[in-house]
Amino acid sequence: MNDLRRLFDVLETQVFGRAHEHHDVLASTNDRASSWLREGGSHGLVVTADMQTAGRGRHGRTWCSPAGENLYVSLGLRLPQPRADFGAVSLAVGVGLHRGLAPIDGLALKWPNDVLVDGKKLAGILCESRWSAGAVELVIGFGINVRRVGIDPSVRELATSLEEVGGTIARVEVLARVLASLESTLQGFFDEGIESIFDAYLKANEQIGTRVRVRSHGETFEGLAVAIDHEGALIVRLDDGTPRVVRAADVETARSGASESNPS
Ligand code: BTN
Repeated sequence: MNDLRRLFDVLETQVFGRAHEHHDVLASTNDRASSWLREGGSHGLVVTADMQTAGRGRHGRTWCSPAGENLYVSLGLRLPQPRADFGAVSLAVGVGLHRGLAPIDGLALKWPNDVLVDGKKLAGILCESRWSAGAVELVIGFGINVRRVGIDPSVRELATSLEEVGGTIARVEVLARVLASLESTLQGFFDEGIESIFDAYLKANEQIGTRVRVRSHGETFEGLAVAIDHEGALIVRLDDGTPRVVRAADVETARSGASESNPS
């Protein structure tokens, strides 16, 4: 179970993961990575845990984190000069994870950065940032379902695991590959911005051109997902032709053709 303690032996990165803490149990690896950064931990630090007692998902949801079967990881970055399009970093992280997990048949990104296989969730990402002493401290947390037994029964219909889709289940190898991919993808993003990942993101995202249902700030509406803008927002065209810019939301495939638009 503690294969992750030998991460250093298999790492191929320059920086990411070179400082690494592994814990049997943590409340949340994101919390530990954030406090380690605050204590002076170095750019690229990585925190892993076999189990989380208070794992967090996007939009205040819980991320079920049972012991020993999955990957719960947080990467801590210190960015002195974040770019103007820094808001799109979560899309870049999605591309990095997607590249690190490939090749898997049916692997796709759902806006903004859920990693799916044939519509079922394989991995989720939670990016959290704060300003400190003129720099942004960014924590990139990701959970990857590795084995089916590690998926909570309440979400088994909606989720999948590396075991089920034919990926490797050696956690340390998966993590080393993902960290290498994140390092190169994020370096490109920090140097050149969203252009560096835009085409790869659009290729991996299967929602553009499909009808979606958006839940955002207590409002639900449907429309056609038509584009991603250069700040990483999703552009949805309502049935009356009005474009909506979606920056933070849950976006699902709309199953009915009927309009439920509520643009007000
Ligand atoms: C989501 O899809 O809602 C995001 C899930 C992110 C879960 C990971 S597990 C490691 C890290 N620590 C947390 O508390 N959350 C993230």
